[in-house]
Amino acid sequence: MAKKAKRQKPKSRAAARKSPRKMGKLAAKKSTKKSAQQSNSNGLPTPSSKPYGQNGKALTGVRILDFTHVQSGPTCTQLLAWFGADVIKVERPGVGDITRGQLVDVKGADSLYFTMLNHNKRSITIDSKNPQGMRVLEALIKKCDVLVENFAPGALDRMGLTWQRINKINPRIIVASIKGFGPGPYEDCKVYENVAQCAGGSASTTGFRDGPPLVTGAQIGDSGTGLHLALGIVSALYQRTRSGRGQKVDVAMQDGVLNLCRVKLRDQQRLKAGPLTEYSQYGEGVAFGDATPRAGNDSGGGQPGWILKCKGAPEDPDAYIYFITQAPVWGPICDLIGEPTWKTDPEYATPRARLPKLKAIFARIESWTLTKTKFEVMEACNAVDIPVGPILSMKEIAAEPSLRKSRTVVEVDHPTRGKYLSVGNPIKLSDSISEVRRSPLLGEHTDEILTDVLGFAAKDVAEIKNSGALSAPKKEEKAA
Ligand code: COA
Repeated sequence: MAKKAKRQKPKSRAAARKSPRKMGKLAAKKSTKKSAQQSNSNGLPTPSSKPYGQNGKALTGVRILDFTHVQSGPTCTQLLAWFGADVIKVERPGVGDITRGQLVDVKGADSLYFTMLNHNKRSITIDSKNPQGMRVLEALIKKCDVLVENFAPGALDRMGLTWQRINKINPRIIVASIKGFGPGPYEDCKVYENVAQCAGGSASTTGFRDGPPLVTGAQIGDSGTGLHLALGIVSALYQRTRSGRGQKVDVAMQDGVLNLCRVKLRDQQRLKAGPLTEYSQYGEGVAFGDATPRAGNDSGGGQPGWILKCKGAPEDPDAYIYFITQAPVWGPICDLIGEPTWKTDPEYATPRARLPKLKAIFARIESWTLTKTKFEVMEACNAVDIPVGPILSMKEIAAEPSLRKSRTVVEVDHPTRGKYLSVGNPIKLSDSISEVRRSPLLGEHTDEILTDVLGFAAKDVAEIKNSGALSAPKKEEKAA
């Protein structure tokens, strides 16, 4: 046995050199093994043996030049930071992201608006309009994989950072932008959240039929577009592993909102085929116009639903539950509310028969939900698979233990404002666990980025600093 083993495996390189025939065999064996591995794993490395969560993060090694401000862009770069990217936020000296000072609740501290959108990032202050500032920015462009920005249309070009120039400095960099509108009549407009909600079709389809259009509290224009951009960026990073080059990633807020409203464009086209029977206005005999109407609290799918009062309403503004009369659980619904005959009565037994009477049916269900708290309704309904949703206030969400446990709601400590609650990463990866770190103070990491990331020598750092490119203009200079 030992003799055989010795023949198959030369002990050392020298031994292998002496036995070229054997080495050839060994090499052949090795290369067969390698190609089998590669074909099995599509060229990927063999699976790591490290415990899950201890093998770096999904975006470890990716460096982001974060030129974003307010909400849409910062949402995107915060997500990338949670996945492990090194996000370097560039801010205007002395001012920073405007949200640092907006809706301030603790005097002298960064606002919650800022802190809750800029976790896990580093901050450097650079005046992009100062030549030495541009020197630093160019150095950063060389070192980064992605530049993300959401300035007003044309602002980046006005700084001198056109796509052509950025691409020339670093052909591998991905340049990702959020604007309000895509190419067209409104492409030069500045846009905020509610403008996008209105222009993207959300407002015209939200609210009650007899009331004005409504905007929603969910920030689908800002945070929704940030999410879209993050997906575009990781897709472009993946394509770069084959192409070796960067590309532009553009998302317009109007497009992002419309994407989230696609069921409403679906309904617009269905109107040609007749009334939208799942809308309660059908049951109420109200004629449809030629555009998708506001649907109140109707469910967007084919299962009728409505918001019903529970014990405590209307004095408690959140004592409500969303109740869905899903067809397969019609029987259990009838039993729960005390109308067992509705299970077989032809006037109620089928979804079609119920459609014209939905208002009355929901009123009957509400007389039952009013006898219980929203949590009691939740318990009784879920026991028999009836889908319902308690209307949770932000106060209740902040205190919900399961959200704390899943780290979707996290407590973060901050040197100038103390402890505050934030929303953690809602996307859970089993091998890339997100830790939520506090947002940076303005320019907190300027020195370490200049030296550790960009490698500037002390004399260069001094030259850059003396030029005023990294600091706020002095008061007397301002006055002059
Ligand atoms: N150094 C020097 N100048 C800087 C700078 C820096 N570090 N960072 C920004 N600036 C300058 C810009 O170059 C720009 O100057 P210019 O207009 O002279 O070219 C100026 O600051 C203002 O930037 P702008 O983006 O126009 O800010 P704004 O406060 O006027 O507008 C928005 C804010 C959000 C309306 C606008 O940025 C926008 O429409 N963005 C795209 C859509 C979007 O993301 N909207 C949602 C935001 S939540």
